[in-house]
Amino acid sequence: MPYYRRVGEVPPKRHTQFRQPDGSLFAEELMGQEGFSSDSSLLYHRHRPTAITSAVPFEAPAWSRVPNLPLKPRHLQTGKLGGGPTGTVDPVLGRQHLLANDDVRISYVEATEPSPLYRNAIGDECLYVSAGAVTLESTFGALELREGDYAVIPTSVIHRLVPKDGAVKLLTIEATGHIGPPRRYLSVRGQFLEHAPYCERDLRGPTQPILAEGYDISVLVQARRGWTEHVYANHPFDVVGWDGCLYPWAFSIHDFEPITGRVHQPPPVHQTFEGPNFVICSFVPRKVDYHPLAIPVPYNHHNVDSDEMLFYTGGNYEARRGSGIEQGSISLHPSGFTHGPQPGAVERAIGVEAFDELAVMVDTFRPLDLCEPALAIEDTGYAWTWNRDA
Ligand SMILES: [Fe+2]
Repeated sequence: MPYYRRVGEVPPKRHTQFRQPDGSLFAEELMGQEGFSSDSSLLYHRHRPTAITSAVPFEAPAWSRVPNLPLKPRHLQTGKLGGGPTGTVDPVLGRQHLLANDDVRISYVEATEPSPLYRNAIGDECLYVSAGAVTLESTFGALELREGDYAVIPTSVIHRLVPKDGAVKLLTIEATGHIGPPRRYLSVRGQFLEHAPYCERDLRGPTQPILAEGYDISVLVQARRGWTEHVYANHPFDVVGWDGCLYPWAFSIHDFEPITGRVHQPPPVHQTFEGPNFVICSFVPRKVDYHPLAIPVPYNHHNVDSDEMLFYTGGNYEARRGSGIEQGSISLHPSGFTHGPQPGAVERAIGVEAFDELAVMVDTFRPLDLCEPALAIEDTGYAWTWNRDA
């Protein structure tokens, strides 16, 4: 996370005595990344954050995964997903995995119920709220998320997601490692530079601690070798204060300032986050290319080292018109296949001054496999849609 934040009460000096009203010590916890060599925060708990009373294996929904063979561009229709696998649909266990490799797992969920308390020990999660609203409650406090918000939840933060006012629709991107702003947009000390498409003022973090009471509290832990249910002696949301540079944070796609030019700008201008072996980009409404002879839609392209997933979440995506792509669609254009605008899109776009598209893209450096739910919602004719006249 780029910058320092302080919430609630913390002692003036780290690692010193900090006492509760009854005279006992608060329990200090350092949560940090990369072996004490990267961002961290210090949290002050009312109870020991180490006190668990049981640990049992937990069977989370699991999906089979097959390679993208025969190699084809794919179109997935998330509107056809139906309910989750668990009966009650919550934003964690209700996730239906769609595309995955060893670096990243991309899922979709339409959830109505609160999730269990949950920690992902494999890596950071990036959530994108495509519709509805949800409260992200964690040991760091609450963060309200609404349509268009990304939230980055650092590895192992105990949290839960509580949908508000009906269903929330989430695209979830689970990394094997850490997700943050692109390094080229940050100074050596982590400040956003002037050419970045967003900056500190656009970010939100928790503002107040959550103090919950309770005993024998279940927390589901997703780790590299599987899931476990830990029971904590006391409620983990018992932090009276914390400070540091590691915490859940949110950023609205509507605050992403598009970078435009006289001729077509390449996808890196849309980059919003980076993770290990993948990037996340935002395509937002914008004025488009203004050279007198400009062609505003992308040229045919083949980014030979990447698979490209695009989630169409708002507006109209000009380059895909006529392909069957609609709101909620996901396209996968894999390495080994040249993709480009649908027939007719280039001529149609000439002279257009603005696009109102809203889409989230994930480009991965290793191939994405197709998960079982993806196969059930595939529009199998998509691969042939460039082979006809507009
Ligand atoms: Fe592309």
